[in-house]
Amino acid sequence: MRQYQLHKQGEAYVPVITEQPKPVPGPGQVLVRVRACSLNYRDLIVARGRFGDKTQGRVPLSDGAGEVEAVGGGVTRFKPGDRVAACFFQDWIDGPFEMRYHGSALGGEAPGMLAEYVALPEQGWIKFPEHLSFQEAACLPCAAVTAWQALVVRGALAAGETVLALGTGGVSIFALQFAVALGARVIVTSSSDAKLERARGLGAWEGVNYQRTPDWDKEVWRLTDKRGVDHVVEVGGPGTLEKSLASLAAGGHVALIGVLTGFGAPTGSLFPLVTKNARMNGIYVGSRAHFEAMNQFIAERRLRPVIDRVFPFEQAAEAYRYQQSGGHFGKIVVEIP
Ligand SMILES: NC(=O)c1ccc[n+]([C@@H]2O[C@H](COP(=O)([O-])OP(=O)(O)OC[C@H]3O[C@@H](n4cnc5c(N)ncnc54)[C@H](OP(=O)(O)O)[C@@H]3O)[C@@H](O)[C@H]2O)c1
Repeated sequence: MRQYQLHKQGEAYVPVITEQPKPVPGPGQVLVRVRACSLNYRDLIVARGRFGDKTQGRVPLSDGAGEVEAVGGGVTRFKPGDRVAACFFQDWIDGPFEMRYHGSALGGEAPGMLAEYVALPEQGWIKFPEHLSFQEAACLPCAAVTAWQALVVRGALAAGETVLALGTGGVSIFALQFAVALGARVIVTSSSDAKLERARGLGAWEGVNYQRTPDWDKEVWRLTDKRGVDHVVEVGGPGTLEKSLASLAAGGHVALIGVLTGFGAPTGSLFPLVTKNARMNGIYVGSRAHFEAMNQFIAERRLRPVIDRVFPFEQAAEAYRYQQSGGHFGKIVVEIP
């Protein structure tokens, strides 16, 4: 079978197709014929070598969906033919996060999904809503679960509240979809007016072009009648946090998720958290229980992930380059024939 691996070229790692034996599911394992994978910004971070030497030979991508081909002894949750997606943290089933779960994160600390077949313990797979295709289901494990944990689980988002989503990448577009479905008002920022228009088409209340309006926090403040937003989906990190805090309403919630502007210290003070009696939660994807609750919501509301572009299996490197370009809106998928 064909399996991508990350191989070092110069300073970074690139996905290279290799030929490997088809896995045989051991006791408790489920063998899946992978039909689609999706990319996340994290996959670019992995390819830049953030996980060090263990990146060499690593199977990339956390997110994939496919069809159960065979099950090992003792498997009770799945049978051949079931349509499943992999869980980002294979070991985080339910309850609070524990540091040991880091070792089970697919496509980073643990081997990932970009292969024709993947065998994983049955606890690490989940059935996905019937109305979704394999390509749509492959968008869920990282970006969607992150947005769900951020807004619904930790944020306890309520109808009528206002949400600020930064940019129009995978996490932010899922946050937009969930928040709109829950009756919230969503302000989206983007570098592109065309993308803001698409976001409005998905139900965004307002859009702010953060390139043409570098003081986008002031525009958010104006749009909310000087009240601010109840939730910020903070995917920018140190370079955007100051303005996100300036955009926040009293008692508001910042879901600190991303590192689009890097891993360093915030450029501004955190003191607005104090003066606003606000709260900030660090979010790292979510558990299988979060994924299950989210799937139920997606099924009830008939939500569909927004796929920007689908690349053939052979063109995974092009998919990486497209993700890097930031030209996308929502998710980028690699299909596997
Ligand atoms: N903690 C977690 O569990 C978790 C999970 C998933 C992702 N993340 C992180 O969250 C971030 C987003 O991930 P993703 O996969 O959704 O990324 P993505 O799909 O690649 O989205 C990138 C988009 O973000 C927007 N953007 C870039 N720089 C920006 C800036 N300075 N200010 C505002 N928006 C900016 C751009 O949107 P426009 O083109 O519209 O301007 C860009 O297209 C990444 O840092 C990722 O590592 C964290």
